[in-house]
Amino acid sequence: MTESRFLPLATYTELPPEVMQRRVDDFEAQLQRRRSVRQFSNRPVPRNIIEKCLLAAGTAPSGANQQPWHFVAISDPAIKARIRTAAEAAEREFYGRRAPQEWKDALKPLGTDERKPYLETAPWLIAVFLQRYSRQSNGRKVKHYYTDESVGIAVGFLIAAVHTAGLVSLTHTPSPMGFLCDILGRPKDLERPYMLLVVGYPDPQASVPDIQRKSLAAIAEFLPPA
Ligand SMILES: Cc1cc2nc3c(=O)[nH]c(=O)nc-3n(C[C@H](O)[C@H](O)[C@H](O)COP(=O)(O)O)c2cc1C
Repeated sequence: MTESRFLPLATYTELPPEVMQRRVDDFEAQLQRRRSVRQFSNRPVPRNIIEKCLLAAGTAPSGANQQPWHFVAISDPAIKARIRTAAEAAEREFYGRRAPQEWKDALKPLGTDERKPYLETAPWLIAVFLQRYSRQSNGRKVKHYYTDESVGIAVGFLIAAVHTAGLVSLTHTPSPMGFLCDILGRPKDLERPYMLLVVGYPDPQASVPDIQRKSLAAIAEFLPPA
C-alpha cells in the first residue's frame, strides 16, 4: 500500500468577480467559435504545439487518478495513408451495409460519407486509446475505472487546447476502429481505440454545416428556477 501524502493547494488563485466574469465570457465566446472541420490544409503544424495540446489533455481528472489514456500523434505520411485506407474501408461497409437508416438520416445534414481525404491531408492525426487495464511490472492486469468518462474529458481538453492554439479539429470515429491497434501496434488486451482526432489548419475554402447549438434553457435548469 502506498502512503497518502497531501500538499497545500498552491495552484489555486481566486479571481475578483469582474475578472471571473470577463474570463468566463471570453472562454465561452472562444468555445462558441469551435467547429468540426472536414476540409484541411496540408500546412504543417510544429510538433511542440501538439505536445502542449497533449499535455493539456493529460491534466484531465480521471477515475482513481488512473489516467487511462494513450495518445499516438501521427505526422508520418505512410502511416496516415494506411489509416485512411483502413478507415475508408470501414466506412464503406458502414454507409453501404451496416448503418441503420435512422443513423444515416441523422448524419445527412452533415454531408459526411465514406471518403476521408483529410486523413492524409491534415498534418496530424491523434489516435486516442482508452486503457481498460494497465499491466503491473509483475505481469498482473489492473482494472481501470470510469475509463469512458475519463477519456471523454481528456479528449474534451485536447479539442479545447487545439482550438485555443488557433487550429481546427475533427472528432473522427470510424466504426469499427480496431485497425488502429493493428497499424499503431497497441495492445488489444489492454486498450481499445477511442477516437481519431484530425488536427491542422482549415482549407481556405472549408465550409461547415449550418447547425445550431441548443439554448441554455434547452440544456440546463436551475433550482430554484430564478
Ligand atoms: C463522439 C463523436 C464522434 C464523432 N464522429 C464523427 C465522425 O466519425 N465523422 C465526422 O465527420 N464527424 C464526427 N463527429 C463530429 C460531429 O458530427 C460534430 O461534432 C457535430 O456535428 C457538431 O458540430 P461541431 O463540432 O462543428 O459543433 C463526431 C463527434 C463526436 C463528439
